Amino acid sequence: MKKRMLAVLLASVTACSLGGCAGKKKDTVQTVKIGLTLYDQYDTFISELVSWFNASASALEEETGTAINVEVVDAAGSQTTQNEQVKSLIEKGCDVICVNLVDRTEPTTITDMAEKNDVPIIFFNRELVAEDLERWEKLYYVGADAFGSGIIEGELAAETFQSDPKYDKNGDGICQYVVLEGEAGHQDAIVRTEYSVNTLVEKGVKAEKLGYAIANWKRAQAQTKMTTLLEEYGERIELILANNDDMALGAIDALKVSELPKDEWPIIVGIDGTDVGLGAIKNGEMAGTAYNDKEGQAEAMLKLAFVLSEKDPDSGLTLEDIPLQDEKYVRMPYYRVTLDNVEEYVEWSKKKPDGVGTTENTEITE
Ligand code: BGC
Repeated sequence: MKKRMLAVLLASVTACSLGGCAGKKKDTVQTVKIGLTLYDQYDTFISELVSWFNASASALEEETGTAINVEVVDAAGSQTTQNEQVKSLIEKGCDVICVNLVDRTEPTTITDMAEKNDVPIIFFNRELVAEDLERWEKLYYVGADAFGSGIIEGELAAETFQSDPKYDKNGDGICQYVVLEGEAGHQDAIVRTEYSVNTLVEKGVKAEKLGYAIANWKRAQAQTKMTTLLEEYGERIELILANNDDMALGAIDALKVSELPKDEWPIIVGIDGTDVGLGAIKNGEMAGTAYNDKEGQAEAMLKLAFVLSEKDPDSGLTLEDIPLQDEKYVRMPYYRVTLDNVEEYVEWSKKKPDGVGTTENTEITE
């Protein structure tokens, strides 16, 4: 799967080279300036996505001969800070700004500034409502199909529960579960919780919700919340549905310090396929995950930014190379990862060009 995604990027670039536009020989070197503002640079999934974005920017720069300058800033959870960062990125001359909104209901200040200065905005990962994206023609969204992740998670949970009677620890024919949820109001948290549980039931598992906790995507918060859930429900918990891998790992941290022997742990499923998440599948702690295609999202965002900058019209890259829906949305699918295929994903992450471009092209500012 990932090989296919990389092939897309390289193929489009090669097509350009074959068309005679190999950028290295350009007389005047253009610079595409792209700004990225993150809701929280310590979010595991976001930091892996940005790493891939930088690596892809270096590859595209190399192939087209057009300099790509990426500046990454961290809004550290403040929408006010993020608004100021966008203002400053516009003043610094960014051609395009990629915004990982802190508050997905508050895009107006950014949108207004962008429109006034005619700087296209690509929102990513934290989806604003459709009406807000319609407010100006140069607003885009890159993310994933949240429904797909919930469905895969529910399927993985059902398959594991049905695979061995030992998972029905009290033998009552019902799967007692808890949910660890991401931020309240985040599109992925809402949709993943609903679709994972619905799918579990559709797959023929009788299910009973014991409890839930909001852990805001964070491992440490999930550990604390899971410790409380364990105190309350103990070994009655047969399944933990986590809205992301980091929270699944927090649950594992809590289980490790609990009295519960490993062979009596509940089934744990996550979403993302982060490096640590894949590690937990490999060592049998997590039953599976829905792979959140950070490489596909990062590459689509980069190509879109490159085209929108209009700095290199001869590169061969056009809007047609980007899988846009309704001319504004890129939504990548999710993929199933279990012990059976985890090695493919681990192998791939080892190969990824870690850190390429991070020193030359990127500044991280708090
Ligand atoms: C990811 C989470 C991440 C969140 C941040 C979600 O799509 O699955 O891991 O924390 O985005 O917005």
